[in-house]
This record gives sequence, C-alpha cells and structure tokens, in this order.
Amino acid sequence: MTAKLLLVEDMIVEDEEFHHLNNPADGIKPIVKKYLGTPNHAEQLGNKIFFTDGDAKVEVLIVTNEIIRVRLAPHSVFLEEFSYAVPELPETSVEFTLLENEQEFRVTTPAINCHIRKQDFFISFSDKNDHVTSSDAVPMHWEENTQFGGYYVFCTKTCEEQESFFGLGDKATEFNLRGKRLKNWNTDAYSFGYNQDPLYRSIPFYISVSDGIAHGIFFDNTFKAHFDFGGEDPTKTSFWADGGELQYYYIHGPHMMDVVKNYHLLTGTHPMPPLWALGYHQCRWSYYPENKVRVIANGFRQNRIPCDGIYLDIDYMDGYRCFTWSPKYFPNPKKMIADLAANGFKTVVIIDPGIRVDDNYSVFKEGKEKKYFCRRCDDYFMEGHVWPGRCQFPDFTNPEVRAWWGDLFDDLVETGVAGVWNDMNEPAVFGSGTFPDDVRHQYDGYRGSHRKAHNVYGMQMVRATYEGLRKQMKNKRPFTITRAGYSGVQRYSSVWTGDNVASWEHLKLGNIQLQRLSVSGISFCGTDIGGFSGEPDGELFTRWIQMGAFSPFMRAHSAGDTKEREPWSFGEPYTAINRKFIELRYRLIPYLYSAFWEHHRYGFPILRPVVMHEQEEVSNHFRQDEFTYGDKILICPVLEPGQKSRSVYLPKGKWFNFWTLEMVDGGKEVVVPTPLDIMPIFVKAGSVIPEYPVMQYTGEKEIEEVKLNIYYSDYEVNSFLFEDYGETFAYEQDIYLEKKFVVKGTADKLTIQQSMEGLYTPRYEGYHIKLNGLPFKPTKIVADGKEIATISSNSDKTYEFKFSKNFKKIEIFK
Ligand code: GLC
Repeated sequence: MTAKLLLVEDMIVEDEEFHHLNNPADGIKPIVKKYLGTPNHAEQLGNKIFFTDGDAKVEVLIVTNEIIRVRLAPHSVFLEEFSYAVPELPETSVEFTLLENEQEFRVTTPAINCHIRKQDFFISFSDKNDHVTSSDAVPMHWEENTQFGGYYVFCTKTCEEQESFFGLGDKATEFNLRGKRLKNWNTDAYSFGYNQDPLYRSIPFYISVSDGIAHGIFFDNTFKAHFDFGGEDPTKTSFWADGGELQYYYIHGPHMMDVVKNYHLLTGTHPMPPLWALGYHQCRWSYYPENKVRVIANGFRQNRIPCDGIYLDIDYMDGYRCFTWSPKYFPNPKKMIADLAANGFKTVVIIDPGIRVDDNYSVFKEGKEKKYFCRRCDDYFMEGHVWPGRCQFPDFTNPEVRAWWGDLFDDLVETGVAGVWNDMNEPAVFGSGTFPDDVRHQYDGYRGSHRKAHNVYGMQMVRATYEGLRKQMKNKRPFTITRAGYSGVQRYSSVWTGDNVASWEHLKLGNIQLQRLSVSGISFCGTDIGGFSGEPDGELFTRWIQMGAFSPFMRAHSAGDTKEREPWSFGEPYTAINRKFIELRYRLIPYLYSAFWEHHRYGFPILRPVVMHEQEEVSNHFRQDEFTYGDKILICPVLEPGQKSRSVYLPKGKWFNFWTLEMVDGGKEVVVPTPLDIMPIFVKAGSVIPEYPVMQYTGEKEIEEVKLNIYYSDYEVNSFLFEDYGETFAYEQDIYLEKKFVVKGTADKLTIQQSMEGLYTPRYEGYHIKLNGLPFKPTKIVADGKEIATISSNSDKTYEFKFSKNFKKIEIFK
C-alpha cells in the first residue's frame, strides 16, 4: 500500500515497486457453479443428521417413516426454519438407524432408505425391497448470486426411461409432465394459451411413477423455481430456484395416493366448506346495478335451475375501492343481500389487493398511517395501476397487516356477505405484470424481497381474508376463492383456474387442470364454466356445465364484453340439459360432501385421475380425460363438438353405466353414446351413493329422507357417508357422523351393513333404498330381522323400499 500512496502523492513513478499482488480484486475466482464434494463426516442430532464435505453441509431430517427432508447449506449455515407451506412438521414418532460402510452412509426407516454416497455425495432413496426410487445424477449444486446475495440452487436426479411425472399444481399442458420444462412464478395469465407457462399458482410438488412405484418431491422454495422432467436431457430430472435454500421433501409411495396423502400431511387440507358452497354458483363481470342481480337470481328460480351463490365482481364498489359499495348501483346492499338470502342465494363479493391511493378513502388512509403498504428497496411505496387506478398494496406477509385486513371484513359480514373472492393477487399490476423484485416484505419477521415473497403473496392475502372472515362469522364456515396460491393455500381457500377462453381446447385443458390441482393438494377447484373470454355456443356451454357438475367447485363466469351467459341463455334444448346436470349436482351433494370429508380428514384428493387407480399400467400414465369424482363415480367429459359417442377407459373391476344401469367389466375401453344430454358416468359396482332430493338451493327444504343408491357387486365394497350441520365448525369438536356401508353380494343374496361413528344425529328418520343391478329378482328383504312388506319394482329391474336410517344389516334374498 505504501508504494501506491507514494505514486499518487509524489507523482514519482517507481516501476519496480508497482506490484499487482496487492490488488484486492486479484485472485477472485469467476463465479461458477459449485458442487458438493465428498461427505467426510456425519453427525446425528435427534431426527436430524448432518453430513459435510468440509465446507458445505447437508441436513437429512427424518420427518416420518415415509418422508425425509433434505437441505443444503453451501457454507454450512442453514437459513432459519420457516415455511408458509408447512406451518408445523407432523408429530409422529419415527424409528431410524444410521449406518456407515465404505461406500455410503445410510439412513433407514421402517419404510425407506436414504443413501448418501461417499464417492460423490449423491443422495438416493430406496424402498424396503432395495428398489431405488430416486437418485441424484449430479451432486447438489449452487451458484452465487452477486446481485442479491444468496445462491441459485440446483438439484438434478436421474430420469428413468418410463418415468412419468404428475402434479405441479396448475400447468396448461398434458397431464403427464414427462419431457416438459416448467417454471413457477405466479402470473396473471389472461386468456392463457395451451402450453403457456407459468400461470397463476406455484405448487412446487410433483409425483413420479416409475416401475409402478410412486414417490413425490416437494421443493419447498418460494423463489422463482424451475422444473425439468427429462426435457433437456431425457436421462435427467432437475429442479432449481433463483434463491433461497435447496430444501426438498422426499415423499415415499408406493402408491400415488400415499404420496398425495403425505403431501397433505405436510401442507394441510381444505377445511370443510359450508354446504352451500358445493352448490352451483353464478358469476359475471359484473352483474350491476342491483336490479340486474335480482333479475338474474329470479331467473334461476323461474327457470327452476338450482343455484346457491351469486357473485358481485368489481363494479359493485365505489370506484373499485375495496370494502366500499357504489352508492349509485347498490344504494342498499344490506337489503339486497337479505332479499337474495330469503330467495336462497348467498352473496360473494370480489376483493382485490390494490388499494387506491386516495387520502379521502379510509382503507388507504389507515394502511398508510400504519405503514402497512409494501415499499421498494429505497423506501418508496410500491405503486402501480390496477382497476382502481394508482394503488398501493398491503404487505400480507406481515401478520399485523393480515390481522388488520381480516378486520376490514366486518362491515361486509355485517352487510350479509357470505363469501369473498380474492383476485389479482399474483399480485397483478397493469403494464409491468407484477411487483419489481426489489419490493421488501416483512415475511413473518424473516424479511425478504419480492423475489422470495412473490409466490406466497396471494396465499397470504387469502389467508388474511379467511382468518378475518372466520373471526367475523363466529362459528360459521367462511367461503373464500383465490386466483393465486402457493403450496398450502388449500388451508384457506378454494381456487379457480383464472381467465380461460370459451373454446373446446380450454374445456379439455380445464379437465386436465382440475385433475392436476387435485393431485397437487388443491381439491376444491373449478374452472370458469363456459370460458371467461370469448363466446361459447350452446353446445360448448352445455358440455362445460356437464363437466362442471363434477368439478369440486362449480361456477360459471364470463368477462364483461361477452353476451349474457346464464344456464338458460342458449334456449332449448340447452336449458333443459343444463338444468338436468345442475340438478344431478344437487342430488349428489351428500356424496360430494362425504368425498370432501375424506379429503379434509384423511388427505384424499376429490378428483382422482385414472393413473391414480392403476399406476402400474404405463398406458394409464397418458390418460387424461377420465377421472373419478370421489372414489365411486367415474366421469368422462365430452370434449369435442358434435361428438356422438366416445371411448371411455374403465379401471379394472365392475362398473354400472349410470344412465342405463348396464354392467360393464373394467380394465378396458368401452364406447359410450354421447348425445348432447348424456355425459359418460359410471358407478363402481358395490357402491352406496347417497342422494338428496333436488332443491333450488341447499337447505331449501328439510331433508325428510336420504336416498341410498345401492349397486350390486359380487365382491365386498365399502362406502362412506359423512353428515353434520353443514355450516359450523362443530366437526372440529367431533360433532359429526361417519357412516360406513359394506355391500357384498352372491348369486342369490345381497347384504348391506351399516356402522356409524360420531356424535351427530341427523334430523331425518329414514332411508329410501334403491337397489340397482341385482342379478336376481328379490323375493324377500329382511332388515335387522324384520321382513320389509312394501317393495316396489321398476321396469329397469331396480327395486325400492324404505327403512330406518339406523339399520345395521339388510339382506336381500333371491
Ligand atoms: C380478472 C379475473 C376475472 C374478473 C376480472 C374483473 O380478470 O380473473 O375473473 O372477472 O378480473 O374483476
């Protein structure tokens, strides 16, 4: 240093003293990817085992016998443990052993092994039969990000020749993701096209099926993340992110269902919805003024088309200011909502995150005073244009902001609003698309830029909404719907697939998207029936209503510049067919509600793609039209115009055509006629399908009896029925009833047994039992030892009788 100073001050050039060695920039190596070296040490701390190569550290956490989490710290310092997706790790006792030999360290649980290879730090997993299910192809690696600090983090695994991939939440592409390269970055994707990526939600969870064995990878990283399923190199599967920690959960199968259930164990399930939310919902951008809303509501009742929910899109507000009402269009919202409620409608209103910059607007003023709006790195407010004009945006990653936001709903709840629709929460900003990366977030005290918070912003918004509504509505179940989300969003909301298009291609895409969302943790999902933008013709709309009747969430919605789009808008024969399918939706509500319980309580998805039933058949990995609704009803939507018949694959076992009651053997494709009023529906032999009478809205009439549709089977089949109050959280205190039916038939007898568990007593007294597909004519029916006197027989060889809801055993004799 001395020589250099002299140079400047005395202007004496002393060449021989000029050393480059002292240049501090000298010796800095170029930024390159760095790979784990060789593990030379293992240290166990409770359920965690740490491996190091001398500099980097890897943590292996045994979460359960089937779930192992892997984390990487490039220079041995792990980030603080915090996850919006996994609020708490499951508390289960695990037994495991750590072994070391010349080749590897091995962690063994009763279900799986995790191998850490000494030669190169490759991490792999195998099952009890030493079958390797997942293996690194390259050691975990990272690259420094000088701009932001931290690292780009990478994991590359081998991809087997016949390996298939499913999940990843919401992608507008084939159901099987093999060969795809995809990105997770929540994006407002108006009128998205086939193969457009990314869309509105980021679910960094995928399921692999290879050699008939399934496992899952949940890459819990909220930064922009990338997945390559054998796209760039057919022998490799990679996932990487632009920041954060390389942290993933390996979730063992062997069935896809096990993987999905375990993913739910980590990220939670949907709370039980209010029963009305399973009805039909009518939406449009926008129904206004007030009289229009009333006309639409009356239209449903006049046309005798059931409907439970009616939506108010942005035009109900005063200048699009959230939590206000347009005095011109909705002068007396309380009265309107009360009148709608008296007519059986629940009102759902939209609330976006953008808060108009306006010092005369209380929400803006309060948010500003309390410093609740997001700011840029230099402390400027994050401002951008959305519907209200110039807006600022609450930082929903701040728990205090969430609590404030939740309380803002008190007026809406007081006004009678039953549900809230959160939109534009990717977050969407006109022009720029979304927030710039330098926006700062509180991130529940862990701080981060928008790079880290972007993908969770929408989820935290709807969380604030849900938690606020739950508080305001006391013990009533709120209904929420969101466009954006991250893993775990299902704990707070239902989801719709965003701004789709009125085209046959989008009907197909919607079918795939809902199945994909379902296996990715988001069971309560639906599409904009009819397509948001563009004009469907009557046929397309009707086919969409048919599919929508079997979407866990059923809502028709359309953009403001389209023609009227209610189920009766296309005239006959469409109106009658739409009515028939919406009525069918309502008849099957107790079945859907039971499937919802199975989801909520046990982590089963509501829609189950065919591959989930028969993953060992490789041809099923490419089927994407058929799915089951719950586990008993198979649906195959009609996805082409003018289609007079279509082939439907039925998984192995026996099935009944719902319409004709013809029994068909599964394990093959069958051709089914598809006139406009028919969508292929099959019921699994041995099922008990509960049915309610058709009502114009849920709760219109007291249920006097529940119909049980029993389908004959010559093997034993279990079915479930869940019942409770349908609108409170009493189920959390075990106030519900879980009924189990066991159906078993022989050539000359059919037996149905019922058992019950729980503390709820439904008000109806009896069942109306309908026997379908009996291979004989019954001569005697004995229920709990008593012979049934009145049995009616129908021309389609079905038989009906009534009996107490408390029966234990019913025997039907030839
Ligand atoms: C967005 C939503 C759409 C809504 C519109 C107006 O495009 O995705 O559903 O109708 O905004 O609020």
